[in-house]
Amino acid sequence: MVRTIALLIGAGFVFVLGIALFGTVSTAISDPAPETAEHEFHLHPKDAHLPSAGLVGKFDRQQLQRGLKVYQEVCAACHSLKFVSFRDFGQLGYSESQVKALAQAWPIEQPSVNPDTGEAATRKNIPSDRVPSPYPNEVAARAANNNALPPDLSLMTKARHDGANYVASLLTGYQNQPAELLRKFPDAKTPTGLHYNPYFANLNIAMPPPLTSDGQVTYDDGTQPTKQQMANDVAAFLTWTAEPNLESRHGAGLATVIFLAIFVFLTMGAYRNVWRGVKH
Ligand code: HEC
Repeated sequence: MVRTIALLIGAGFVFVLGIALFGTVSTAISDPAPETAEHEFHLHPKDAHLPSAGLVGKFDRQQLQRGLKVYQEVCAACHSLKFVSFRDFGQLGYSESQVKALAQAWPIEQPSVNPDTGEAATRKNIPSDRVPSPYPNEVAARAANNNALPPDLSLMTKARHDGANYVASLLTGYQNQPAELLRKFPDAKTPTGLHYNPYFANLNIAMPPPLTSDGQVTYDDGTQPTKQQMANDVAAFLTWTAEPNLESRHGAGLATVIFLAIFVFLTMGAYRNVWRGVKH
């Protein structure tokens, strides 16, 4: 008796779920969601072939230094790196005094308080400071950027799918809106104040193209500062800020795989040894 009731209740549930599924599927077929410009024109990042990519990738210190220069001269005007201290730049191959000089000469100063008047002021950076934002707060940041907020870039390459390649593609991806897009989606015209960029999720980004011409940054190591090169270098640099210990992680992964491979052979040998007299 109890069993029959339980079966009936179960069957009732299955029936209701079946109806719901049928409803969903038939609506999806009879009245599909309209195609959107984002869906059709959004592009996945191009492979920037950074040396840190892949299972055993390593950083190229020279490239990270170039990326830091691009960040310093271009991106720092709008974006902070609040999880990175100036002294961390020592890991890129700078000496202590070079780090000090770098912090001292940094284009954006640290917010502080004037000890005499108590008013808000700024002071030069020291190695223990975090890389500052040029804006006192979000309101000021939005006011200066057409109501968009330039996000902190410390963890950006982790916060976006395929982050390093994404940053490089985004920086070089600015272009005119394709005529085909406008023909198909007349309502999707890029609003004034935004910029068409197919690598950005909704195709229109508030950031004006930061890298506008080859040679915008002068490199000390003789590398040609093409737009693509600067984009790759700053993407490599932001990969480092997001995961400075990437190399030791890759190293540990490789060591583990080698260890496990040897371990498999040892276990196989032990297994055969133990069962030698029993199994043939
Ligand atoms: C003039 C100010 C300005 C400069 C200079 C600038 N950015 Fe931006 N950036 C912005 C703003 C504003 C946004 C927010 C865009 C939005 O939400 O539409 C942004 C967003 C971003 C994003 C996030 C995109 C996303 O997926 O959300 C990245 C990555 C980025 N910038 C990287 C850089 C790099 C790298 C540089 C230097 C080469 C740089 N930016 C220079 C203003 C700037």
